Amino acid sequence: MSILEKIDLNNTPEHIAIIMDGNGRWAKQQGENRLFGHNFGVESVREVLKAAQQANVTYLTLYAFSTENWNRPKEEVEGLMSLLVHTISNEVGELNKNNVCISTIGNLDGLLGDAKQEMLNAFEVTKDNTGVQLILALNYSSKWEMVEAIKNIAQQVDQKEISISEITEELVSNELTTKNIPDPELLIRTSGEHRVSNFLLWQIAYTEFYFTPILWPDFKQENLYEAILDYQSRERRFGMVSEQIEKNS
Ligand code: FPP
Repeated sequence: MSILEKIDLNNTPEHIAIIMDGNGRWAKQQGENRLFGHNFGVESVREVLKAAQQANVTYLTLYAFSTENWNRPKEEVEGLMSLLVHTISNEVGELNKNNVCISTIGNLDGLLGDAKQEMLNAFEVTKDNTGVQLILALNYSSKWEMVEAIKNIAQQVDQKEISISEITEELVSNELTTKNIPDPELLIRTSGEHRVSNFLLWQIAYTEFYFTPILWPDFKQENLYEAILDYQSRERRFGMVSEQIEKNS
């Protein structure tokens, strides 16, 4: 029985978010520079996308470039941007054929070169697709999006469009860049690090975490299936007790 066959396809996470980590260490192991690792990381993106399609996952959010990544050496930042532009421009046709819808979260205005234009083109080409929704977190950080949301809400109060008592969890969620996207049920981080690194802090309040020592360029389809199987073995209680969960199921 293959790992995919062991998955209960009626109970796969609707949304999986991934912190793709370990490209630099993987490259070092090969005696290569960091960009070599990022290039191989793209192959793992293809793998998880195929696996997500097979496993009935609707939303796949990948942390591709954080606001903190600007602090990396200039050659690495420029190399990552150019990798992004080339990958999207080379793959958009194939992604479109596979019914994948591309979108982003983050501040596209801050991206270098053609990256913003390339992303806008990819949104346009794939906007009507109904298969996997591939969301790239680009120039994204959770604290950045929360500050933006707070400013917008404060402005609405200031202009008397809403009153303070109307500020609810739902209203805050609708001010985030993820406003039309359900919260992830599963967050995966590769490379053995156990951190959240400013990623989807509001949205992961009840998300299950899966940490694996596998470095991102080594992460393949089966590894996504293993993470889903692990998720399916867990009991999600959302603050309740086991007996209540059993009664409701
Ligand atoms: C973290 O590994 C990885 C990144 C900051 C970049 C991830 C980007 C890709 C895999 C390319 C994605 C491309 C598309 C089209 C989505 P690291 O460099 O921090 O690794 P280290 O911790 O071993 O140094």
